[in-house]
Amino acid sequence: MVIVHISAECYPMAKAGGLADVVGALPKYQNQSGEKACVVMPMYKTPFLEKNEWEVHFKGNANLGDWFFNYTVIKLKSNELGFDLYLIDINGLLDRPKIYGYNDDNDRFIGFQIATLNWLKHWAEQPDLVHCHDHQAGLIPFMMKHCYDYQQLQNIKTVLTIHNAQYHGAMGWDKSILIPKWDQWKRGLLEWNNSINPLAAAVKCADKVTTVSPTYMNELVLHSNGLEKLFEIEKAKCIGILNGIDAAIWNPATDPMIPFHYNIANVTEGKRKNKVAICNRFHLDFEKPLFIFIGRLVGEKAADVLPGAIQHALDKTNCGANFLIIGSGDTSVESALNYLVQLYPGSYNTFIGYDEKVGHEAYAAADFLLMPSRIEPCGLNQMYSLRYGTIPMVRDTGGLHDTVVDIGDENGFGIRFLHANENDIVYSIERAICLFNNRDHMKKLITHCMEIDHSWESVVEAYDHVYKSII
Ligand code: GLC
Repeated sequence: MVIVHISAECYPMAKAGGLADVVGALPKYQNQSGEKACVVMPMYKTPFLEKNEWEVHFKGNANLGDWFFNYTVIKLKSNELGFDLYLIDINGLLDRPKIYGYNDDNDRFIGFQIATLNWLKHWAEQPDLVHCHDHQAGLIPFMMKHCYDYQQLQNIKTVLTIHNAQYHGAMGWDKSILIPKWDQWKRGLLEWNNSINPLAAAVKCADKVTTVSPTYMNELVLHSNGLEKLFEIEKAKCIGILNGIDAAIWNPATDPMIPFHYNIANVTEGKRKNKVAICNRFHLDFEKPLFIFIGRLVGEKAADVLPGAIQHALDKTNCGANFLIIGSGDTSVESALNYLVQLYPGSYNTFIGYDEKVGHEAYAAADFLLMPSRIEPCGLNQMYSLRYGTIPMVRDTGGLHDTVVDIGDENGFGIRFLHANENDIVYSIERAICLFNNRDHMKKLITHCMEIDHSWESVVEAYDHVYKSII
C-alpha cells in the first residue's frame, strides 16, 4: 500500500508538539511492516532544512485565489528517517522560521494543501491512501473529492487523524475564493457555525476518522470546542487508536541524549546517577523525590495551576520534594513559575524553553512526572516517562486515562487524580512522597513501568485495519 501522510509538523524537521513525534514515527514503522509510507509537509526554514541535503523532486505551479504561484517539491536525500520526506516550498508563503503564528496562517496552509494535491496529480506513484493530520491538512479530503482540479484523485481513500480537536482552523467565507472551484451546492461540507471549518470538513469528507486514544474519541462527543454534534452524527466512521512511541529513540539503555545509560536490571543505580547530574545542574537536593513537568505552559496542560499547587505542596511538606518545570508558553504562567525560584532555592527550578536534550535528561533523572492536563487527546510524555522508569501522575482524561492505572487499582503503577486543581495535585504529591519513602514498593513499580510496551508495531496493525476497511 502506498500511503501519503500530510501534516504541518514532522520530527525532526519541525516540531511544536506531539503531532510531530507521531508523524515522524508512524510512517517509519509502517515501512518496516511492508507498506510504502511517506510524509509531505511545508518547507519551513528550520535548522533541519539547513543541515541536510535535498534533491528537487518536482516543480509546478497553481493558483491561490488570484495569486499564481510556483512551488517546488524537494525530497530528503538520505533515508535516515526510515521514510521519504517531501517538503513543499512556496516562496514567501511557507519558507519562514516558525510553523504557526503568522497572520496569514490560513492562506499558508491552504496554499500548502493546493500545492500538495497539484503535485500528487503528477506523481508517478499514485497513492492508495492519503492520511491527513489535524486541520492544517483538513481541506484535503474535500478538495480531492469535490474540486474539479483534482478529479483524478477522487477515488483515492482518505483518513483524517485528529491529534487535537480544540483547533479547527476556522475562517470566514471570504476565504472560499482561495479553494479551487467546486459545485457551490456542496457548501455545507465545508461549513460549521457559518464559517469554513477545515477540521469539520475533514470529519465530514474523510472516509475514516481516527483520533489518538479511545477515551478521547468518547470525549469528543461531549467536548470538542463546538463540534460535539458533528462527532455524534459521524460516530460510525470514527475510531480511537492509541499512539505508540518510538522505542528506538526513547530507550534509556542507548539514548545518546542522557549522560548515564541504564536498563531494568540496573535502573536504581542508573537513575541515581542521572538524578545527581540534573540536581547539580539545577541546584536541587538529590535526596528528595524529584517531580518534573515537561510541556507547553498553557491552559490545556493546566500549567496555570502549577505555581499555586507547587507552592502549597512545598509549604505543606516543609520542602520535602524537588520540582523542575521544563517548557514555555503563556508569559503570565512563565513568570509565575519563575517567581518561585527565589522563594524555594534548592527545591525548585525552571527551564523556560524547549530543548529536546534537557527533556530526555529529565525523564532519566526524575522520580515522578506530573501531567495535570485539562485536555489530553493521547499524551506522549507519560509513555516516555514509563520507558525511563519515572512514575506518571496524571489527571484522569483522554489518553492519560488509557495509559495510566492508579496504584490503588489492580495492577496499578501510577497516580491518577480527577481534577486539574491545587487540592488534587497536592494530595497526589503527598501520595507520591509516601510511595517514594517505601523503597521496595517504588522499585517494583519502576520495574512494572519499564516493562509496559507502547511501541508502534501493534499501533501500525490497528491503522492497517482502518485502511483495509475502506480500500
Ligand atoms: C497533540 C495532543 C497530544 C497527543 C499528540 C500526538 O499534541 O495534544 O495529546 O499525544 O497530539 O497525537
